[in-house]
Amino acid sequence: MLIIFLINFYWLKVQVEVEFLMKLFEKSIKSELEGFISEGIRISMIGDSSRLPRTLQELVRDAEDRTKNNSNFQLIVAVSYSGKYDVVQACKSIAQKVKDDVIRLDDIDESLIEQELETSCTDYPFPDLLIRTSGELRVSNFLLWQLAYTRVFLRTDTLA
Ligand SMILES: *[C@@H]1O[C@H](CO)[C@@H](O)[C@H](O)[C@H]1NC(C)=O
Repeated sequence: MLIIFLINFYWLKVQVEVEFLMKLFEKSIKSELEGFISEGIRISMIGDSSRLPRTLQELVRDAEDRTKNNSNFQLIVAVSYSGKYDVVQACKSIAQKVKDDVIRLDDIDESLIEQELETSCTDYPFPDLLIRTSGELRVSNFLLWQLAYTRVFLRTDTLA
């Protein structure tokens, strides 16, 4: 069985908090990586990684690389990710391939688009269940395409 955890880091307006979160993220990768490897956990990141500091980008790429053969669990960390962003980057990538004559216009179908979405990093891009824990009653620009047939569990009370 493959369980996918999704964590989404939002960009906060306060720079200090962003820097703090990035430091925390970097520290977590460094301290947990050996554990992930020994537990057979695969790490993947989705989202606009170009907005991360260069050292963190390299750290994440290295972690993805070193855990890419693991198949017990997959941990997908979403950083600076949104469903609309994902569709836009997929469109750009497909348009580029048409322009470069790698594919033809008629090759574009749902399956091709799914291959270009960032969730193609997992064999199970369509979650069976989305648990929204914050008390919000909306999907909030998360995995828009991928949630087409997902059951959604919304907590109407908050944990606080
Ligand atoms: C993953 O598997 C491939 C193919 O078996 C191998 O070449 C590669 O070294 C492995 N990578 C890691 C990080 O274990």
